[in-house]
Amino acid sequence: MTGQHLPASTLAGLLGSWSDATGPAYRSLAERLRLLIADGRIMPGARVPSERELTDALGVSRTTVASAYRELRDRGYLTSRRGSGSVTSLPSKVEPELGRHHAPGIDTDGMYDFTCAASPAVPGISSAVTEALEDLPLHLATPGYHPQGLPALREEIAASYRARGLPTTADQIVVTAGALAATSIAIRAMTQIGDRVLTESPTHPNSVDAIRRSGCRVVAAPMSPHGWDLPLLEATIRQSSPRAAWLVADFQNPSGWLMSAADRQQLATVFARARTTAIIDETLFELSLDGQEMPPPFAVFDPQGVITVGSVSKSFWGGLRIGWLRVPEALVARILDARASLDLGAPVLEQLVVTRLLRSRSSILPERRAALALRRDTLAEALRTALPSWRFELPGGGLSMWCELPEPVSSSLVGVAQRHGVLVMAGARFSPDGGLESFLRLPYTLEPDTLRDAVERLASAYGSLTVGPPLRRTAAMIA
Ligand SMILES: Cc1ncc(COP(=O)(O)O)c(C=O)c1O
Repeated sequence: MTGQHLPASTLAGLLGSWSDATGPAYRSLAERLRLLIADGRIMPGARVPSERELTDALGVSRTTVASAYRELRDRGYLTSRRGSGSVTSLPSKVEPELGRHHAPGIDTDGMYDFTCAASPAVPGISSAVTEALEDLPLHLATPGYHPQGLPALREEIAASYRARGLPTTADQIVVTAGALAATSIAIRAMTQIGDRVLTESPTHPNSVDAIRRSGCRVVAAPMSPHGWDLPLLEATIRQSSPRAAWLVADFQNPSGWLMSAADRQQLATVFARARTTAIIDETLFELSLDGQEMPPPFAVFDPQGVITVGSVSKSFWGGLRIGWLRVPEALVARILDARASLDLGAPVLEQLVVTRLLRSRSSILPERRAALALRRDTLAEALRTALPSWRFELPGGGLSMWCELPEPVSSSLVGVAQRHGVLVMAGARFSPDGGLESFLRLPYTLEPDTLRDAVERLASAYGSLTVGPPLRRTAAMIA
């Protein structure tokens, strides 16, 4: 919401169970409201209810609301205008520990950071860089612009699809600056402003933001507790006729689910019949952690219709910023046109590095998978011990666990956890249209010992949130 009046009842709903037992009520209220603003769920410029309206809606004292507003004003999250109330704002310097744009592992010194589902680089990047430098002089003699990507890298990527049963030529690959950029390009190419795009819920929030920023309306189909709900997806496609669908088929972020071959086949048929362009994100493809054989790429079931998104961010290193699209031949020119106004190609040196890395993937990636499997199991064990009331399914791959809490308190937990030295992202951030307050994504990318400590701190934070009368009273009042 931006530039709008935020009614007290709406704000009360967004605040959820904000009260915690650890400090003064006004501070909990201010923290929860600050989080909603910092997280983008209340946009800057929204006019908040008057102190009296919010006091009535929350059933708290006027002093609590007045003090919370004062604290937010002092910290730059509210601006008061004489005669027209207070509007939300962002401080000129976003606090690093909670800023949405922090650099994980750098801006978060001293905090355990569960907000980023990505690992440090695999061993082998430095030697790939050294080797790639040998190829660089050839390129230095050219302008260095490759809107479609270096031919050698495109051939390497195409060969990996062929090896998985999907005939692909290097001409069908477009190298991008990561999977997110690939999704943005595909959406720009295949949709027009106002078109509907189908996604899952929960799903990867930045990609949803990218779809929305392209002017599309997101239609989110909820996942079932165990994966994709095909009848629901089919019904949603029938009812909303989306122009495109963006789904994460491999170890979905945040849930970790892997779409079966049968589901891929059925959905590909449904999309083709509905003339919905399927854009399938297979970024986490390489991270099968229990030796499970991967189903074929989704595009096997409709090679001339489906667009595939890939990346090395999760398998090798996000800092390379290299991803790609695998595109049906007839759509390549359209994709390149859409890309031209976004950027003019990915960096040459990084493409040379990734070409080397992909050639050595069978010797590099087993170690990464083993390390992640250990971390996943460590996190699961720590959660079972310290937070036995939380429920999760052990994912067969990917980078994160999707935990269900007994109460819808995940946004409240974010603020309290931060005071305990742990950064987490609320479940609601993974929902394209709100809700999912009972869920929390926990990536297992930290070191095992760190994971254990972080879960203990999280358990203390959760304990302080759920014990004592204030939360129970507030929760009952809101329900
Ligand atoms: C499903 C999915 N797609 C895309 C991305 C972004 O990937 P990249 O770093 O390659 O842009 C992520 C990263 O979290 C992801 O989980």
